[in-house]
Amino acid sequence: MALLKLNRIGLLTSGGDAPGMNAAIRAIVRTGLYNNLEVTGILNGYEGLIKKQFRPMDRNSVSNIIQRGGTILKTARSDQFKTDEGMDLALTHLQEEHIDALVVIGGDGTFTGAHIFGHKFDFPIVGLPGTIDNDLFGTDLTIGYDTAVNTVVEAVDKIRDTAQSHDRLFFVEVMGRDAGFIALRSGLASGADNILVPETKTNIDNLIRMLKYDWKRNKTSGIIIVSEGDDQGGAYEIARKVEEKFDEFDTRVTILGHIQRGGSPTAYDRVLASQLGYESVNALMNGERDIMIGMLNNQISYTPFEKAIKSQKSIKHTYLEIARILSL
Ligand code: F6P
Repeated sequence: MALLKLNRIGLLTSGGDAPGMNAAIRAIVRTGLYNNLEVTGILNGYEGLIKKQFRPMDRNSVSNIIQRGGTILKTARSDQFKTDEGMDLALTHLQEEHIDALVVIGGDGTFTGAHIFGHKFDFPIVGLPGTIDNDLFGTDLTIGYDTAVNTVVEAVDKIRDTAQSHDRLFFVEVMGRDAGFIALRSGLASGADNILVPETKTNIDNLIRMLKYDWKRNKTSGIIIVSEGDDQGGAYEIARKVEEKFDEFDTRVTILGHIQRGGSPTAYDRVLASQLGYESVNALMNGERDIMIGMLNNQISYTPFEKAIKSQKSIKHTYLEIARILSL
């Protein structure tokens, strides 16, 4: 891979925000400056490229952000960037600003845009996995996932207090879009009785059978974690279906919602973001492009955007069984 002569790099965050994005921004800016590159922040993801919302980044612009959730560059999901006109405008603005290469932080939508744009204009782009959903192939964990899981666990611990005190069964809905990673890990960590994920078909009758078994054993409270993408519906829908056939439990539903996206990143997410941010600048200088930079088995790994987008990362199915057995 030939070394790439870079003077200025741009960086943006796109898609849903995730805790740790700021730590990644800090790492990219500081590594760029260390290598005598100029760094331009692009606001609002790809929208900022189209609207030319640029901001020069110096070392002070990323002071005191490693511990902050959200993204100081703001983020958006851009429909205009999917059009030829939008992409043309983005290229014009990159050229006017003398930006030679880009680092994009986000999920599969972000990488799809980067892949198409990079090929269309022969423009070097590398990506960092930033999403609470952890649904990206080519990295064991994504930036933001660990924090989101910890947020869920903290919330479920609190819900459990009420569940026990009032003898109630709670259905707790967590995020993840069509992936069950958040549900699975937080469910195991919070001692949930059952975890429902989109990757496995949910059978309501089986669920009721388990609940009846628990009830017979004098279990009067419980926690069921429901991933928002479950094939039987959201937590309200599933609770209703269960209650229709078995209503011994006093049931409540909690939707955790966007609290899962916010908050100070965990140490794990900060370290991951710092490492990947640092590697992204080195990768660009080494002439890499069209790849997502992730971490597999504690090693930095490069995955072509196309593969990261199209391949399915599988969940650990054994977690479902472990969670159930440990709750008995
Ligand atoms: O991709 C992150 C995520 O939080 C998903 O878990 C969720 O389904 C979605 O974004 C929510 O998106 P929005 O904030 O646009 O409602």
